[in-house]
Amino acid sequence: MNKYFIYTYGCQMNVHESEKLAGMLEGKGLKKAEKVNDADVIVFNTCCIRESAEQKIMGNIGAIKPLKKKNKDIIVAVCGCMSQQTDKPSILRKKFPFINIIFGANNIEFFSDYLDEYNSNKKYLNRVIEGNYQENTTGIPLVRDNKLYAYVNIMYGCNNFCTYCIVPFVRGREVSRSPQAIYTEVKELISKGYKVITLLGQNVNSYGLDNSTGGVLFPKLLDTIAHFDGDFEVRFMTSHPKDISDDLIKVMAQNEKISKSLHLPAQSGSNKILKAMNRNYTVESYLEKINKIRALIPNITLSTDIIVGFPGEGDEEYEATKRLIETVRYHNAFIFMYSPRKGTIAATMENQVSTEEKHKRVNDLLKIEHKISDELFHTMVGSKQRVLVESENNDYFVAKAQCGKVVKIEKDSSINVGQFVTVKIIDYQSGDLIGKI
Ligand code: SAH
Ligand code: SF4
Ligand code: F3S
Repeated sequence: MNKYFIYTYGCQMNVHESEKLAGMLEGKGLKKAEKVNDADVIVFNTCCIRESAEQKIMGNIGAIKPLKKKNKDIIVAVCGCMSQQTDKPSILRKKFPFINIIFGANNIEFFSDYLDEYNSNKKYLNRVIEGNYQENTTGIPLVRDNKLYAYVNIMYGCNNFCTYCIVPFVRGREVSRSPQAIYTEVKELISKGYKVITLLGQNVNSYGLDNSTGGVLFPKLLDTIAHFDGDFEVRFMTSHPKDISDDLIKVMAQNEKISKSLHLPAQSGSNKILKAMNRNYTVESYLEKINKIRALIPNITLSTDIIVGFPGEGDEEYEATKRLIETVRYHNAFIFMYSPRKGTIAATMENQVSTEEKHKRVNDLLKIEHKISDELFHTMVGSKQRVLVESENNDYFVAKAQCGKVVKIEKDSSINVGQFVTVKIIDYQSGDLIGKI
């Protein structure tokens, strides 16, 4: 075993977990392969949020077959949310008999042990376990993807059971990490020069509600981190709208080190659909929260997730979602077509929407959203923005604003890569902001 290659699918959680997988592999002396063809260990860290994700992954696993045929010693491992579904390990193994190790999303931190176990007897290993996330208390090394941006888990799992969503089934119940472990990790990252720390959880606002953090809830955790010394920013995702508290909004408003951008998935603009989704808020209460946030943090940039074509979404309900997007005016919106997931309540609901209708709605909404976000970025021209300089080329520096938008900055000898700078936005051209020191 000399080289490894990891395929990562899905959300930031998986991106971060692949950093743990890479850490364990490098701990065994392996190096990252540039191409999958050069790898001795190939890992698929999978996602099952939508059917399309699973199909893509199936295709990519299938594409490994010729490599495995040429070299039987290659180890193929599949882990993550997809393997955590009931029956999936046997389906995968049947379809792809060359898979050597299957393990779940909740015991990812023990991959190193599974590799040892496989290497000692070279027999197929199924180590998927049901239940909640398990931390490896011996501490595992991490190989982080980026030198400036770092992810830190604050909690695992989800208790919300939105009726369309597979995550609570594959990721188990909410488990919060100890505040001390989080503080230590964040302090270390700041001291190593990381500039943007993103706190990760399926629903960060539930942090501590499992009574495992000695009374530290999310606003307190965030406030404590935002008071650490050093030149950094802290972000978090994802927030469930029902749980955004006044305390959290206040903490965001009061701390310079907390990014002024917020991802607040609305999913739908129709109360009937929100109820059927089990989201536990109404359009009115959602808008009320947005108003509160904007009153206290006027320069906030907002983004959202929307599902179109949820069962029972007729023209009237779809129009309501359109109105929500036009009312809030998000800087960015991720718009998904509803995908039935086995085992969830929504998959068995009547009134499923046709694929054709879903396509129509997604394209229509994307057009509306692009127009709005274009207008919003145009209005940024003339404003001052604090941005992080990520790289430089012959013509300009490439930076990112807090909302993730690329800002190209004219060359200036006072700027260094890896530094926060405040620039004046002087133009908005072909999707990028142009800044000047
Ligand atoms: N915990 C986060 C992220 C969940 S997954 C949250 O609650 O926001 C990210 C997004 O995928 C969701 O916000 C939702 O918009 C979308 N999604 C989840 N299940 C889906 C499904 N079955 N079909 C289509 N989109 C889905
Ligand atoms: Fe899924 Fe809802 Fe949990 Fe998000 S809050 S992970 S959408 S069940
Ligand atoms: Fe996918 Fe699992 Fe994330 S299903 S979106 S990788 S939590």
